[in-house]
Amino acid sequence: MAQIISGKALSAAIKERATQQAVRLRGQGIVPCLAVILVGDDPASAVYVRGKEKDCAECGIESRMIRMPADTTQDALLAELAQLAADDSVHGILVQLPLPSQIDERAVIEAIPPQKDVDGFTPVNVGRMMIGEECFLPCTPAGCIEMLKSTGLPIAGKKAVVLGRSNIVGKPAAMLLLREDATVTICHSRTEGLAQICAEADILVAAIGKSNFVTGEMIKPGAVVIDVGINRDETGKLCGDVDFAAASEKAAAITPVPGGVGLMTRAMLLVNTIQAAVRQTGAKI
Ligand code: GUN
Repeated sequence: MAQIISGKALSAAIKERATQQAVRLRGQGIVPCLAVILVGDDPASAVYVRGKEKDCAECGIESRMIRMPADTTQDALLAELAQLAADDSVHGILVQLPLPSQIDERAVIEAIPPQKDVDGFTPVNVGRMMIGEECFLPCTPAGCIEMLKSTGLPIAGKKAVVLGRSNIVGKPAAMLLLREDATVTICHSRTEGLAQICAEADILVAAIGKSNFVTGEMIKPGAVVIDVGINRDETGKLCGDVDFAAASEKAAAITPVPGGVGLMTRAMLLVNTIQAAVRQTGAKI
């Protein structure tokens, strides 16, 4: 049976550290503050945003939740962002995605000042990540790397396969694995021989958004499996992209869903927000 990489334990440790750092910031007169904009009433987004609000409260980070109606215009959203960008008491800005169809997502992301871009989605942060400069790393891929490292198993020189090529997860996850000296392959909906490529992976990161897409046969014995998927199966139960029961028979280590990557994504946002406050104020933590 595989080792279960618990997002619960790991994220709790990260939150504990963020809490201590927030105390030290407050001691220097700085209240770390995250602004979150939610446009519309997508139920999943509402759940995620409430989670972020709760996490901030638990760690001594101020959160400003800005809820805007589904028919918000792009100009209205950009005006809100301009205010937050100019407000020195706001250190991090996050716009919950997806946005309603009348709004151009890229234009909105590019309106976030890179120094406040705690999602790591702006072109400046993406570019800095590519060349290994100081930046904000996107929370989900950064959480995946933390989980991998927690196993103590090597990453350098290993064959890593990333399933999915989204800007939020797949592409940056591949880049961060490359930074750890893995040999990286990205698979996607057009990949030929995908199952065979997965079956040769020492590290498999599944971020394809399909329930039980990764079957037991696609897991190399002894692999480390990081399941980024958050899906519902036909009975409505939360599940990942990986057939957990089958994969855990073969893998050396695997992340559960729920209780895995999702918790790490939340924790890494707190890390980035503290870091944003530190960089903007020159405070010491
Ligand atoms: N929607 C799904 N995941 C994310 C995320 O990491 N950040 C933002 N802003 N929106 C999301």
